[in-house]
Amino acid sequence: MSDATLKATAAASGASATERFLTDKTVQTEAGTDAARVNTLVTEVITAVHDVIRRHQVTYDEYNALKSWLIGVGQDGEWPLFLDVWVEHVVEEVAATGRGGSKGTIEGPYYVPGAPALPATSTLPMRENEAGTQLLFQGQVTGVSGEPLGGALLEMWQADDDGLYAQFAPGIPEWNLRGSVVADADGRFAVTTVQPAPYQIPTDGSCGRLIAAAGWHAWRPAHLHLKVYAPGHEPLTTQLYFKGGDHIQDDVASAVKPELVLDPRPAPGGGNEVVYDFVLDPAS
Ligand code: DHB
Ligand code: FE
Repeated sequence: MSDATLKATAAASGASATERFLTDKTVQTEAGTDAARVNTLVTEVITAVHDVIRRHQVTYDEYNALKSWLIGVGQDGEWPLFLDVWVEHVVEEVAATGRGGSKGTIEGPYYVPGAPALPATSTLPMRENEAGTQLLFQGQVTGVSGEPLGGALLEMWQADDDGLYAQFAPGIPEWNLRGSVVADADGRFAVTTVQPAPYQIPTDGSCGRLIAAAGWHAWRPAHLHLKVYAPGHEPLTTQLYFKGGDHIQDDVASAVKPELVLDPRPAPGGGNEVVYDFVLDPAS
């Protein structure tokens, strides 16, 4: 385990994730001022909480534990983590209703726009002797009728072999294992990277306290993150997992789908290789 692992704290990654979310110009944080919609949604959420309190005869001690925990989530900067682990997968499910093309899944808190541009055949930025099994990840981006989408953009980001993300854990070069790959004229790409390790959501902050208090575990299976774009098509935000990997069946963030599980094979030149094609729906 590297020094970076030892120093990756909930407060540090939470503060970075909160700052990243609040400053991302591509994220809409004011959904509008439709009072009827706000009234409906907020009333139902609050009523659902009231129902739980009555059904389970929640005590003042439990109410104060909740109050203290909610304050702590904010102080630790862990709202992005909490929401992306326990809520986002249902928002994604609703957003994807009726959509064709490849499956998507949650974005999570660690996307950063503006990763270095890379040609269709390339290696993600990595340290000398980056730990982990080498992975050649290749495929093609097409539309729903199979037409190649030349020049499609694949933004990729992933954890390293310690399960840590550049820009959210200390001591990792800024764009390590992050890149914006431009597919060739046939929509093809061939990216060399390393297989990420399973990711554990920080255990030393409020989300970790909740997990311990509830007797859950903090793990996500190893995954690659991607956003795939082509003009005239719906962007796709997805993740790809590894067959047989730990926590494929019990992802804390409930974001695994069978269509998203890779089955890499040993590559002739060493390491592993896998083919995965992306199909983008037409823009609505
Ligand atoms: C979280 C981390 C991830 O890497 C991810 O893909 C989803 C959620 C999290 O810590 O909240
Ligand atoms: Fe992730």
